[in-house]
Amino acid sequence: MTYTLYPVELESRTSTRPPRKRTTSSQSVNFSRPNRTSPTPPQSSQTTAPRINIQIQAPTPTTALPAPHSKAKRTTHKLKMRTYFLTGANRGIGLEFVRQLSSNPHTTVIAGVRSKSNDISTLEALNTNSNVHIIECDVSSPDSLSSLSFRVAEILSQTGANLDYLFNIAGINATSADTSLSLDAESLQRHMQINVLGPAKIVQSLRGYLARGAVVMNMTSGLGSLTVATDVTKCCTYSMSKAALNMLTLHQAKDLKGAGVKVLCMDPGWVKTRMGGKGAMIEAQVSVESMLGVVAGLKDGDSGKFYRYDGGVIPW
Ligand SMILES: NC(=O)c1ccc[n+]([C@@H]2O[C@H](COP(=O)([O-])OP(=O)(O)OC[C@H]3O[C@@H](n4cnc5c(N)ncnc54)[C@H](OP(=O)(O)O)[C@@H]3O)[C@@H](O)[C@H]2O)c1
Repeated sequence: MTYTLYPVELESRTSTRPPRKRTTSSQSVNFSRPNRTSPTPPQSSQTTAPRINIQIQAPTPTTALPAPHSKAKRTTHKLKMRTYFLTGANRGIGLEFVRQLSSNPHTTVIAGVRSKSNDISTLEALNTNSNVHIIECDVSSPDSLSSLSFRVAEILSQTGANLDYLFNIAGINATSADTSLSLDAESLQRHMQINVLGPAKIVQSLRGYLARGAVVMNMTSGLGSLTVATDVTKCCTYSMSKAALNMLTLHQAKDLKGAGVKVLCMDPGWVKTRMGGKGAMIEAQVSVESMLGVVAGLKDGDSGKFYRYDGGVIPW
């Protein structure tokens, strides 16, 4: 059985988005999906959104993840007292994570932003339950990263908890129009620094504060899949950095196994944010709610996997 899904995300920075092309070609990518009913593509009001029809093979149940929209699961994870640290919290997907997590007064959210001098008023406004702690975390700055553990430890000492979840969300796609024939060293270096080295250093810095059973989630992209790239190549520099992040994820999963920490990478889908653009296919609210359902249902054997926001497993 095959069925058609909405595209693996095709995000690009709005300001540098190349002209959209409609495509009529179908691309076949095999995803294994958790045991669930057939997917319901999010409805987009953007009738002009670019679509690539991906023929998905019949689902092969590989893991018993919860349906992300399952009411029972949502209720369960919302009732637990949990401590989260995330980067890129001031806007986009990161901000939506803070919005959803902070609505539970029993949750502690340590929200990393590049700089507190930037406008973080929307994030600050989410602190209605006094459970959002905003700290600086510039993932491109060695100084900021090396002092991160002190800022996090200070907050943890107030609550007496360790981190249950560490979400590396901050990322850039700054030269989305480039190709293998035009990419340059400066941009590649910057993407690797922010999208790869940043998540590596954050885990190094905070590993001592990760609770046993904690989850590290690296926000990657479908464009970081080598399998997907055999059909769809876009955003060369960005996709190379996300492929490297995926490899980092596998190393982290192995290296933290003894500490009982699960590490995964997650494709949020093509999301309406500054990076994804207004023509993207899903709202951040939908993507984040689904991702929270996925991480809440992870089993030990799920460490080192590449998930899509709806719980599907993406081939490397
Ligand atoms: N949107 C999509 O369709 C899509 C698809 C696949 C993957 N993703 C991934 O999802 C993640 C979030 O993307 P988004 O759509 O929310 O993008 P976004 O709206 O552009 O937000 C990017 C976030 O990253 C932060 N950031 C960038 N450089 C930083 C640095 N040096 N230090 C700290 N924070 C930094 C930004 O902070 P500032 O405001 O300070 O710049 C902002 O909070 C990224 O890793 C992205 O690659 C997104």
